[in-house]
Amino acid sequence: MNPFLSPSVIGYAKSRSICAGETLDFFISSKNSLQYKVKLIRLISPDIGPIGPAFKFREIENKINGTHTGKHQKILPGSFATIPGPLPLPDDFTITLLVFPTLINQTPQTILEMTAESGLKIEVCNSLEIGFATYIMRSDKVLASVELEVLPSRTWSELKISINNAEGLVTIESNSQSKPSHLSREPRQGHCTWSARAKNNWNNSRIKLAARSFSDSEHHDPLSVFNGKLEKIRITDRPLPGASPTTIAEWDFSIAMSTDQIIDVGPYHADGILHNLPSRGIRGSTWNGSSLSSILEPDKYAAIHFHDDDIADANWDISHSLDTPNDFETGCYALRLSTVDESTPEFYVPFFVRPLAGLQNSRVAYLIPTTTYSAYANMNLRVTAQFNELTHGRLTVLDSTDLLLLEAPELGKSTYDVHNDGSPVLYSGMNRPVTNFRPNGRMYKFCLDLMIIGWFDAMEIGVDIITDDDLHREGIKSIENYSVLITGSHPEYTTHAQFDAIQSFIDSGGRLMYLGGNGFYTAAEISPLHPDIVEVRRPGQDNLWRVDHTEGTFSTSGLPGGLWRNLGRPENGLVGVGFLTQGFDECTFYSRKPASVTPRVSWIFDGIGIDEKIGDFGILQGGAAGYEIDRHDFSKGSPEHSVVVASSADHSPVYDLMVSSILDTLPQSELAEDSIRADMVFFETKNGGAVFSVGSIAWSGSLGHNNYDNNVSKITLNVLRRFLDNKKFLND
Ligand SMILES: [Fe+2]
Repeated sequence: MNPFLSPSVIGYAKSRSICAGETLDFFISSKNSLQYKVKLIRLISPDIGPIGPAFKFREIENKINGTHTGKHQKILPGSFATIPGPLPLPDDFTITLLVFPTLINQTPQTILEMTAESGLKIEVCNSLEIGFATYIMRSDKVLASVELEVLPSRTWSELKISINNAEGLVTIESNSQSKPSHLSREPRQGHCTWSARAKNNWNNSRIKLAARSFSDSEHHDPLSVFNGKLEKIRITDRPLPGASPTTIAEWDFSIAMSTDQIIDVGPYHADGILHNLPSRGIRGSTWNGSSLSSILEPDKYAAIHFHDDDIADANWDISHSLDTPNDFETGCYALRLSTVDESTPEFYVPFFVRPLAGLQNSRVAYLIPTTTYSAYANMNLRVTAQFNELTHGRLTVLDSTDLLLLEAPELGKSTYDVHNDGSPVLYSGMNRPVTNFRPNGRMYKFCLDLMIIGWFDAMEIGVDIITDDDLHREGIKSIENYSVLITGSHPEYTTHAQFDAIQSFIDSGGRLMYLGGNGFYTAAEISPLHPDIVEVRRPGQDNLWRVDHTEGTFSTSGLPGGLWRNLGRPENGLVGVGFLTQGFDECTFYSRKPASVTPRVSWIFDGIGIDEKIGDFGILQGGAAGYEIDRHDFSKGSPEHSVVVASSADHSPVYDLMVSSILDTLPQSELAEDSIRADMVFFETKNGGAVFSVGSIAWSGSLGHNNYDNNVSKITLNVLRRFLDNKKFLND
C-alpha cells in the first residue's frame, strides 16, 4: 500500500445512528469505477500507531463483506434555486432583483437563467472587470447580449431587465446603493436589440437562480454558480405609459426561512426550491441594525447567500444496504473500504448502533458527540490555515486522507472554515465522504472517543451507545432510564434540545460523567428538514471565524446561536467547569487538592496516594490534562457547592487565555500562577444525582496507559462504580 496516495474508494452512510434491527444505506464511489472491497468491523479502540494500545476491532460476518463492482460517483457543489414553473409570461416583461456579489472573478457566474422556447441569462460578467451581462438565447445560441460596466462588489445593486419582444429590444439598468457616499454613482443603463425575425417566446419559462443548467437541465453547472446574496426578485409586465406594473411573480426570501422553499407571493404561487443549502437568515438590503433577530424582523434578513462550495448532501446512488438483526450489539462500527489490491489507503465509514428500539441493555449510556463531529466534518482549516501550527505549537501532521480535502474540494467544508468568498460556513453535515471521521489519523474527537470505548471493553463494562442525533430527536426520553450518562472527549456543540435533555437528566437524579474538555460550549442546531445537517452561528465569538455578529439566529429553528455562556447558560452551570484555553503541544497532569480527602469526595481517589501525579502519561503529548481545558469558576456559574478535587498546572505558553476567557485587557505584572489549569470537579445535584467532570480533552488519551492499569483509569472506574450505586448523593 502506498501511503502517499489518497484513498481510491470513499463513501458515507445515510445516518450516523441506527437501532439494532434497522437498515442503513451506504453510498460509495470508486476511482475509475474499479472494483472495491468492503469489510464490516466493530470498532473497539483506535489505531494510534506504536505509542499506545493496538488498533482493536472485530470483523463482523455479513453479506455486505466482499468484493463489489465499482462505480465512480460525482459531487456537484454549489447552491442554487429552481422554480419549476412553468410560469406564464407575457411577451413584454421586466425582471427586478437585488444582488450583492461577493466574489467577482474570471469565471462567469449566473444570477438568473430563464429557459423556455427562448432563453435569458443574467451573469456577473467576467469579460469586464466588474459588471453584469444579459444574454438573449435560443437553444445554446446567443441572439443578443448587453453588458454594463459597473456592478460593485459587496454592495447591493438593483438590476432591472426589460424585454420588449415586439421591438426585439432588451434594456438593462443597474442602480447601486452608495456606500460609501463618495463612490456614489448614477444609475447605469444599456440596451441591445435582436433580429425581429427571431421573435421570442418566454411563456412557460422555468427559472434557475444562482446557477446555470447543464444542457440536459437535470443538473446545474457547478462552474457557473453565483457567489453572493440575492433578494426580492420580481417579474412584472411592462405596462402602458401611465399605468402601474402588474406583478407576475415575486419571491420573498423573508418567508419560510427555515425551509428549502422560496415563496412566490405573486398570483401564480410559483414557489421554488433551494438546493445545497445556501445561507438563509442573512442581512438584506434594508438592514439597519434595528434588530439582531431574523425572527423578530424577517424583512431585514430577506437575503439568501449562495456559494459555489455549498454542499448539503452528495446525493449518490445507494451502493449497499446493511440489514442488522434485532440482536445486533450496540456499539461503534465502520465499513472499511479499500481497493482490491489494497494499493491505496483504506477509507472508513463509521456509524453507531443502539439497542433494539425500546430496549435497554445497560444502566450506562455513552453519548457519542455526533453534533460536534458534523460541525468539524471536513475541516479544511487544519490543512490550509497559516496559523494552525502557531496555535498548536508544533508541526501539523497530515496523511493522505487529510489531503483528500485539497484533491477533492467538492467534498466541502466544516463550520470552522470560510466559503470561497470569505463568508462563514453555517451548515455542515456528514452525508458526504468525511475525511476526519475515522478510527485513525489525528487523535482528536472520534479517535479519542474510541479510547473510552476501549476502556469500557478492557474494564468489561457494558454500555449502550446513544448519539447526539438521537438525543436531539427524542430528548430526555432517550436517556431517562439510564443511571449514568458518560460523555465523549469533546462534546463542544450542543443543540438547545440536547442541552435541555442533559439538564433534565441531571435534575431528575441522573449521574453525569463529563470525560472531556471544551464541552457544551457552543450552541448548534439540527435542521428538522435535514437531520444530518448541523447549523452553527458564532455571534460574540472570536473574530478568527470571520463571523458576522449580526447573523446569530439559526435559520433552521429561529433560536439564538452563539456560546452558551453568552446565552445565559454557561457550561459551568451544567458540568461545573467552563472552557478556558487550548494548546496542543504538551499535556500535563493533575494534582489532588486538599478538599479531595474529605469523605464527601475521597472515594473518587480510592487507591490513589495524596501526592500522586494523576495522568503524567498518555498518548496525547504525555499527559491527561491538556489539548482543550476547562476551569472551575464560581463567577462564571459553577454551582456554589461544587468542589475542585484536583487541578493541573505548568501548562506551556501555547496555552494562552482565549479572548472569551479574559475579563479585561488591563496591564498585569504577571498572570496569577494557577490561572491556566484544568479542574476536576464534583458536585451533587437535585434528587440524589451528581456530576463528575475532568475538564480536559486529553483525559481519555491516558485511560489505556499500562494496559489500562493506571490512576486515570482507576479514578474513572471509582466514579462509575459509585455512580452505579443507587445510594443517593445528598446535597446538603
Ligand atoms: Fe473544539
